[in-house]
Amino acid sequence: MKNFLSVHDAPSVGRLIERAAAIKADPFDHERTGHHKTLINLFFNPSLRTRLSTEKAGMTLGFQVITMDMAGGWKLEFEDGIVMNLDRAEHVREAAGVLSQYCDILAVRSFPELVDRDADYADRVINAFVKYATVPVVSLESAIRHPLQSLADCLTISEHRRSARPRVALTWAPHPRKLPQAVANSFAEWMVNWGEVDLVIANPEGFDLAPEFTAGAEVVHDQAAALRGAEFVYTKNWSSYTHYGATADLPGWIVDEDKMALTDNAYFMHCLPVRRNVIVSDGVLNSDRSLVLQQANNRTWAAAAVLEALAG
Ligand code: CP
Repeated sequence: MKNFLSVHDAPSVGRLIERAAAIKADPFDHERTGHHKTLINLFFNPSLRTRLSTEKAGMTLGFQVITMDMAGGWKLEFEDGIVMNLDRAEHVREAAGVLSQYCDILAVRSFPELVDRDADYADRVINAFVKYATVPVVSLESAIRHPLQSLADCLTISEHRRSARPRVALTWAPHPRKLPQAVANSFAEWMVNWGEVDLVIANPEGFDLAPEFTAGAEVVHDQAAALRGAEFVYTKNWSSYTHYGATADLPGWIVDEDKMALTDNAYFMHCLPVRRNVIVSDGVLNSDRSLVLQQANNRTWAAAAVLEALAG
C-alpha cells in the first residue's frame, strides 16, 4: 500500500480486517513495526477519536508520534502558480516537503467547506499532500471519505455478525447543522467492496449520496423498509449532495426503539460524536445493542493495521 485514502488503496479489505483483529488480540507483539520511525498527524479540523486512536495505534506499533493542530500553524496555500500576497503564508508544496523530512508516515484530516461541490469532491487538501509529500499519506478524514472509520466499522461488523452475509442498513437521521457526506460515502464504499454484507441505504428524497460511492448498494427513501430484517443499523446525518450542503428538518427520521423493533434484533452503530434524542434516542444508545463504544475502540486497531501496511 502506497497511501491510505480510500478502500481502493487496500489490496484486500478482508486481509486488513484480519490484521486489525490480530493486532487487537496481541497488541504488545508489534512494537518493532514502527521502531525508529515517526508518524505525524496533521489536523485542520477538530477530533477526539481519530486523534487519540491514531496516536495510540502509532505508539502501540513503536512509532514516535507527533500531532499538530493546523490552527497553530501557518495558513497554507493550495493553488499552484498563485501570487501569495494575501493571508496564506506558506505553500503546501514546501509544507509537505518539510514534513516529509520529519516523518515516515504523514496523516491528515481536512473537512469540506460544503459550499462548492466540485471543489470539495476534488479533495484538494489531501491530494495536495499526496502530490508533494515524499512519504505515505493517510487520510484521517478528507472532504469526501473517512476510510479509517470505515475499516473500524468493518472490523466491528465482522466481530458481531450472526450470519455469513448480514443485511446492513445505513440510514440518514436528522441533525441541526450541515454535515459532510464523508462518513456515509466511505461506509457505503467499504461495505460494497468488502463484499460480505448486503447494504441498503435509506435517506429522504434529495439526500442520495454520489453514485460513485453507492454503486452495488440498494438505495431507498423508506426508512422502515430498509430497517426490516437488518442485522446492523448504521446511522448518520449528511447534508445533500444533490442540492449541495442543504439540510432538512425531518425529526421523524430519528432512530428510536420503535424503529429498532422493525429490525432482526439489530445492533445500532454510529461513528460518534452523536447528538442524543436528535439522531438516536437515549433508549437505543444506552441499550446493549449499541456498538458505538466498540466502534471507537476498533479505530485504534484499524489505524494500527494501516500503519503496519504502510511501514512495510
Ligand atoms: N468518528 C470520528 O472521526 O470521531 P472524531 O471526529 O472525534 O475524530
